[in-house]
Amino acid sequence: MKKNTENIQIYLENCFSDLSFVKKSVSVADGHSYCVFPGFCDVHVHFREPGFSYKETILSGSLAAAHGGYTAVCTMPNLNPVPDSADHLAAQQQLIDRDAVISVYPYGAITVGQQGEKLSDMSALAEKVIAFSDDGKGVQNEEIMRQAMISAKKLGKTIVAHCEDNSLLHGGYIHDGIYAKAHGHKGICSESEWGPIARDLRLAAETGCAYHVCHISCKESVELIRKAKANGVDVTCETAPHYLILDENDLQEDGRFKMNPPLRSTEDRQALVEGIADGTIDMIATDHAPHSAVEKSEGLQGSPFGIVGIETAFPLLYTVLVKNEIISLEKLLELLCINPRKRFGIPFGNDFTVWDLDARDTINPATFLSQGKATPFTGKTVYGKCISTYSNEKKVYPYTK
Ligand code: DOR
Ligand code: ZN
Ligand code: ZN
Repeated sequence: MKKNTENIQIYLENCFSDLSFVKKSVSVADGHSYCVFPGFCDVHVHFREPGFSYKETILSGSLAAAHGGYTAVCTMPNLNPVPDSADHLAAQQQLIDRDAVISVYPYGAITVGQQGEKLSDMSALAEKVIAFSDDGKGVQNEEIMRQAMISAKKLGKTIVAHCEDNSLLHGGYIHDGIYAKAHGHKGICSESEWGPIARDLRLAAETGCAYHVCHISCKESVELIRKAKANGVDVTCETAPHYLILDENDLQEDGRFKMNPPLRSTEDRQALVEGIADGTIDMIATDHAPHSAVEKSEGLQGSPFGIVGIETAFPLLYTVLVKNEIISLEKLLELLCINPRKRFGIPFGNDFTVWDLDARDTINPATFLSQGKATPFTGKTVYGKCISTYSNEKKVYPYTK
């Protein structure tokens, strides 16, 4: 075992200057060959504390992250209290300091209470937060978003936007497409996402603010961001594994298939894959959004939006995108750990994760360390099993106190 540890150290020394390490592997006693990767980084998770610890805690969320190979996450601010002032943020930071087993970076809210009306105390928060977001809600008012961008630019921070135009929702809860029509459900149109993106790209160009778009799900969003990048706007974006792997044809009458934005059409999914391949989409984030089993038992209409994802992201993406030769393993690692760290200035630290890529596994929520169990991928066969994860030289998966 000592020899393995030495091998891993040698890998790590080379890890971050070039990506050749992914081709190498560590042979271990049982004959399997394990790959060592730098710790993954998820810029979009919901760890639910303070306020909603029955859904997830900093401890359960960070243990789940370590199980997924992640050593750094950024937590969204739809909490109680909302981190919109230094005091409110301190309540969250105390829990992080006490309970997190990996690096947890909180977002500060853009607006007070995420109400979209008045800017949060951005200058007091700036030094203590990774960036600003009102995720869970879109900033409806253009002038508020303009002021937020002007302030973020001054403070050297990025605006991270959940783009959703409430005036176009009309009570919808899945994509406004063939499944919704066939089954009598209320749909969410794609414009409710791309409309606000178009507005914000204009504002980002005007203000020079660094701007990042959350969880893009439709083809128009990809195209808008592609054009903005070509025009020199300081924009990056993420999509999530479920938008790359599933679409409305996979929907079932089950809360496990409900998230916001919704699974869209096959064409949209294909445009996202193209956006990944050509670099328009910079990173993959999970939007890990746990809810209780009771909450998620109310079908497509009655369940809250949100699925868990942090424990299944790598095996799913490796199986569907890499094994099918849609992208390389190096590219996947860029999307999961290099690009997010670069954009948000998150250090690599002495963090790494060890995977058996040949191990076959069936996704089973009973094995999740997250309190949330709702995933549309239950029962799917995947390749890739996390053997161990180290954060700051401490073994955090499997975790022992
Ligand atoms: O699916 C989602 N879940 N989308 C969101 O915007 C919010 C999130 C949550 O907090 O549950
Ligand atoms: Zn969101
Ligand atoms: Zn979210």
